[in-house]
Amino acid sequence: MEPVARDVTDRGELVLRRRDDGHLELRANGVFVMDTLEHTSEDALAARALAVAGPGSLSVLVGGLGLGYTLAATLANDRVTRCVVAEIEPALVGWLRDGTVPHGPGLLADPRVEVVVGDVADALRSAREEYDVVLLDVDNGPAFLVHDDNARLYGVPLLTAARDALRPGGTLVVWSAAAAPDLEAALRHVLGNAAEERCPVPAHGRVGDYFLYLARRPA
Ligand SMILES: C[S@@+](CC[C@H](N)C(=O)[O-])C[C@H]1O[C@@H](n2cnc3c(N)ncnc32)[C@H](O)[C@@H]1O
Repeated sequence: MEPVARDVTDRGELVLRRRDDGHLELRANGVFVMDTLEHTSEDALAARALAVAGPGSLSVLVGGLGLGYTLAATLANDRVTRCVVAEIEPALVGWLRDGTVPHGPGLLADPRVEVVVGDVADALRSAREEYDVVLLDVDNGPAFLVHDDNARLYGVPLLTAARDALRPGGTLVVWSAAAAPDLEAALRHVLGNAAEERCPVPAHGRVGDYFLYLARRPA
């Protein structure tokens, strides 16, 4: 393992390193967050939401930049005319901007992208019927939190803020590393509907699936 970049904040240590297989890996306080090897479910997070979005141009909020795969999958859809990315770690945004993460500069230079360095909760609370799609992948899901403080992002108050940030008919999708029945129930409570989709995780040395929770704001 070769350390590539490191930062320490109030939330702890953020490390980007190059593994022996050549792939970059992001860890927060020693916990695996994301790597450049396997991003099927992060791609699917965007693709699934965009596939069910209504007609016309689309405004999207991505919660959690990570290594940029959900953002890339969002930008691959040319109906997307605006994509706000909320990322709490300023150093990570810097590593994508300056090419420490090699595919980062091209992504962040896309004129449709607006990066907000801060808590996605604030971005959600300050938005009213602004987005057609909200994509939340800000932690490993309610059962595997990297930061305990993020538990609030999976509860009714924040999901209500996410609903209100959506235009009528808009789509909210939340990524989770494990099945999250309480999250599905909270989505159903707030939006009146919810669906779970399993994403098989190939080539990651991991048995099982990742999960997407989709819900739509009634039109
Ligand atoms: C699992 S990664 C996202 C992976 C991303 N979907 C991708 O395709 O690479 C989670 C990201 O959310 C960020 N994050 C964690 N808590 C956050 C919060 N409350 N608000 C905004 N970003 C947050 C982390 O720093 C990390 O970059």
